[in-house]
Amino acid sequence: MDLGITGRVALVHGAGGGLGGAAAQRLAAEGAVIAVADVRGEAAEVTADRIRGAGGRALALEWDLGDLSVIDANATRIEDVLGPVDILVNNTGGPPPTPVLGNGPDTWTDHFRSMVLSVIAIADRVVPGMCDRGWGRVVTSTSSGVVAPIADLGLSNSVRTALVGWSKTLAREVGGAGVTCNIVVPGRIGTARVRALDESKAAREKRSVGEVADASIASIPVGRYGDPAEYAAVVAFLQQTGVGLAVRKYVMRRRGLLAHDAQRSPGALPQRGRARRGRPAAGAARPARPADEALLTLRPSRYAPGRVR
Ligand SMILES: NC(=O)c1ccc[n+]([C@@H]2O[C@H](COP(=O)([O-])OP(=O)(O)OC[C@H]3O[C@@H](n4cnc5c(N)ncnc54)[C@H](O)[C@@H]3O)[C@@H](O)[C@H]2O)c1
Repeated sequence: MDLGITGRVALVHGAGGGLGGAAAQRLAAEGAVIAVADVRGEAAEVTADRIRGAGGRALALEWDLGDLSVIDANATRIEDVLGPVDILVNNTGGPPPTPVLGNGPDTWTDHFRSMVLSVIAIADRVVPGMCDRGWGRVVTSTSSGVVAPIADLGLSNSVRTALVGWSKTLAREVGGAGVTCNIVVPGRIGTARVRALDESKAAREKRSVGEVADASIASIPVGRYGDPAEYAAVVAFLQQTGVGLAVRKYVMRRRGLLAHDAQRSPGALPQRGRARRGRPAAGAARPARPADEALLTLRPSRYAPGRVR
């Protein structure tokens, strides 16, 4: 399927890592030109090389999201080399596992700056241009912790939740200009980050990493961590013309992508309940709003297969 993003310029953060790298490569495979940004410049280069090796076009940037002073210069460089940013994938680094108590204001400030203020400031820099050109995509990657807080991920649960309110508000502000804003809510996808979290939990609980990983996987009905390519497929899905315009909320559960709220894009996704039998889906009566928000999660459900909450 043609996603309609050939030649579009995508800026992907954290693109030297598992999720960002997969998203960057998938968007490139769909025809986008990629600005591959990561605090680890060499990791950004590796992803950019993979994209070029597959026939795509990419610019690697060493970019620390904790440093707000570099945003304008980096955005200008992308514009000079690739063109203005059409697609922004906000994928920040993750904070260390902590409880919410006792971190101190400096730790909160540092993580709020690199995980939230950076996203807001980069969007402030590039989204007005998307609005002027009448097309844009802003995909903000958070965590399933914004839906249900995850034990010992206090910083992540708290700080990322601010991005949900920000993205929903932005969606309403810029939807009429052809810019869609969506949040992706990954659960446990097999990357270096998840390995590090398993190691940390194993050390805290004095168990082996294998035991911790097995217990985690046992709670996942498909019996495995997600693959970064599956996450990237969701990011790619959100690029399609019509998807961000027509969807209010979707949840990716273990058996696939299910409509979870008002479904206003017939044919885009399987519909639930009566809609499956050709009748209107719940909520279908309300007209589609350009600024509607999609909420996606790759978190496996504890609910029975095929059941939709
Ligand atoms: N993997 C999962 O299952 C999962 C689930 C929920 C949330 N997340 C979150 O998604 C994000 C990406 O996760 P991942 O699994 O790809 O991890 P990862 O460790 O593979 O990649 C993270 C990337 O972010 C980069 N990074 C870190 N700090 C940065 C900074 N200040 N500026 C720019 N880049 C920076 C790292 O260099 C790394 O390349 C993280 O915030 C993680 O907490 C991941």
